[in-house]
Amino acid sequence: MASGSIARTAATGDGGMIPELLAWSSSMEDDVGLAREDILGSAAHATMLGETGLISREDAKLLREELLGLYAQAEKSVLALPSGEEDVHMAIESLLTDKLGDVGKRLHTARSRNDQVSTALRLHVRTRRARLVVLAAELVLSLVERARAEKDLILPAYTHRQRAQPVSGAFLIAAWSTGILRATKRLADVDVSECPLGAGACSGSSLGIDRTLTAKLLGFPGGPTKNALDTVGDRDFSLDYTYACTRILLALSRLATDIIDYSTSEFRFVKLGDAISAGSSMMPQKKNPDIFELVRSKASFGVGNVVQLMTLVRGLHAGYSRDLQDDRRATLGTGPIVGGALGAVMLAFPHVKFDKVACLRAVSDGSTQATDLAEALVRQGMPFRDAYKAVGKLVSAATDANRTLISLTEAEAKTFHPAFNEAALRALDPVRAVAAKESIGGTGAASVEGQLLALEAEATILRELHTTDTLRAVAERIADYPN
Ligand code: ARG
Repeated sequence: MASGSIARTAATGDGGMIPELLAWSSSMEDDVGLAREDILGSAAHATMLGETGLISREDAKLLREELLGLYAQAEKSVLALPSGEEDVHMAIESLLTDKLGDVGKRLHTARSRNDQVSTALRLHVRTRRARLVVLAAELVLSLVERARAEKDLILPAYTHRQRAQPVSGAFLIAAWSTGILRATKRLADVDVSECPLGAGACSGSSLGIDRTLTAKLLGFPGGPTKNALDTVGDRDFSLDYTYACTRILLALSRLATDIIDYSTSEFRFVKLGDAISAGSSMMPQKKNPDIFELVRSKASFGVGNVVQLMTLVRGLHAGYSRDLQDDRRATLGTGPIVGGALGAVMLAFPHVKFDKVACLRAVSDGSTQATDLAEALVRQGMPFRDAYKAVGKLVSAATDANRTLISLTEAEAKTFHPAFNEAALRALDPVRAVAAKESIGGTGAASVEGQLLALEAEATILRELHTTDTLRAVAERIADYPN
């Protein structure tokens, strides 16, 4: 039948849409990725129609069996959909009607594509989100393990990309991981708990449908959505999902920039293994961090998708508008980008090797421990501002004399302030400075181990989200439904 004719009546006009416009307005290309979700939504709907007596049990059984057969084909990527329909939803209904005739025509009872689309999208977000959360949690767990191997690495932390204070490698990796975990929690929290099915076109149905049953079959723990008019125009879940995905991409982009910078000859903090390095087609000497540059660039797609979705829903009237069809590319497209970037960092990070000597050298002149020296004076009872000023004088004098801070003798230092005794000057040792910062969230060893344990515990809990209903579990539940 495929000619874009299912959703047309005498009122629409019998002639059909201009083929070029039908093709141009079709969302098939963008929503074909929702075939499995759509089929399961229909299978749950058919089951409910049979259960409530809106169609006969025999018809419901036929529809359900046929739909589950289509689902199996879609799972194996062998589902052949007719072309020439407005979207994947019409294509599937057309396939069904071709096969089942009048029985197929009963499927759309008490349903609109508006609630159908939203149901399929939520199923997509729910299952894709679960996989991404697992991937991100696994990355955090592997970074935590790496952090434990970098406890003795000392390198500068930066503010304004100027050397600031010494930290441990474990602390730096824990910092990246904390950002990734925070974004992952945001993703895990995206609310897709309610089922849109049964909202209809915009105001529900006069038929005796059972929305609670379809919500249950499809695994929506929150039950049916609360207001049909809101439901058909609501894409907040798409936005939240795309934003949370983008937060992960942003966190990865910042890690990427550190690796890119640290691999330059200017820093020389890390060496990239051959297995993750790219060359130049012209410059024979090059060993480039392309993988991390591409991890960084991927965030731009996420940002673009969030902005596109926000501008899409901005100012839409209550209810459904066809504009909403253009949510598909951003909603379906962002997940694979995040999955790809997470996978790339997971593969590449073990090939990033820190140069311990170069890292330590960057904090060995003492200047990054100036605050630690001031704090040593504070421990002797000096007000911080006075200590800060005294150390500032010392730093300036060393710079003027072309000397490092750490090379000043006790006698020299004492000419600036009697408090600069040997015990205080020991604070300039970077290893000591790192070890001394045991405040909560600090770079001291015990503090960092606490951070790593917390990251590990939270990432492990998030990893268990993969127990969230999969599409296959939904299909099995519908197949097992007794009638
Ligand atoms: N392809 C459309 C979409 O995905 C289907 C919904 C069309 N609804 C309608 N009332 N015309 O949004």
